Amino acid sequence: MTPALDPAVIAALRGARHVAALTGAGISAESGIPTFRDALTGLWANYNPEDLATPEAFARQPAVVWDWYAGRRGAIRAAQPNAGHRALVELARRVPRFTLITQNVDGLHQRAGSVDVIELHGNILRSRCSREGVIVDDPAPNASPPPCPRCGAPLRPDVVWFGEILPLEALAAAEDAAVTCDVLLSVGTSNLVVPAASLPWMAAGRGATVVVVNTTAEGQHSGPGIHFAVGAAGTVLPALVAAAWPAP
Ligand code: APR
Repeated sequence: MTPALDPAVIAALRGARHVAALTGAGISAESGIPTFRDALTGLWANYNPEDLATPEAFARQPAVVWDWYAGRRGAIRAAQPNAGHRALVELARRVPRFTLITQNVDGLHQRAGSVDVIELHGNILRSRCSREGVIVDDPAPNASPPPCPRCGAPLRPDVVWFGEILPLEALAAAEDAAVTCDVLLSVGTSNLVVPAASLPWMAAGRGATVVVVNTTAEGQHSGPGIHFAVGAAGTVLPALVAAAWPAP
């Protein structure tokens, strides 16, 4: 079904010089990737996020934490990008400037064909040395966790854990996009986790058109300049692109 789209949003997209998109777990839901909390089932049902996604947890039980992430990586590798990811690739081709900011660690935007993705929370497919921060692309497969090939310290997933700061360069680039864009699409995010959650406010505060693409409007930012396109990202995003740039 074609979702109802706000004509003001279509006009803003068509006239935009710089469009930014901020994505969260909802855009990957249609690829079958469970959110962090949804994945705490089966073997992992007795764990809390704090047992698995904090520096303290990794220090206490590195093998458990590594195995949890290895399972998540496997599920992500088996998944495919969906129509929502692909619509953002298409959108990037239509506007003079496009900035894609994601809170997701699954790399599905890049697999769909997006380039220069700003990853606020890292990428689960990368590993890094827990001591020196060096990125290691192909860690030894049979260790939990494998050692850094340079210094022997345990490798960790290159993601941002609870209590850790975001990569500063990525955050600065995201904030710059939020204050310079004409349109910001906030896609599939609950907008609860700062600092990412403040980006739509920053954009709206500078006069940008903010479009919340989510299956529910509940709990989302609302106010002047904030529009809603309620529905699944895999349906709404292609519809937005098709409405703003209809095929001749
Ligand atoms: N299309 C659009 N939105 C959807 C869809 C869909 N198909 N399915 C779910 N959603 C929406 C939900 O309504 C919810 O608002 O996606 C949002 C997902 O919210 P969260 O699970 O909180 O994900 P996110 O906002 O990315 O979380 C931010 O918190 O768990 C930490 O570090 C983790 O990066 C993550 C951060």
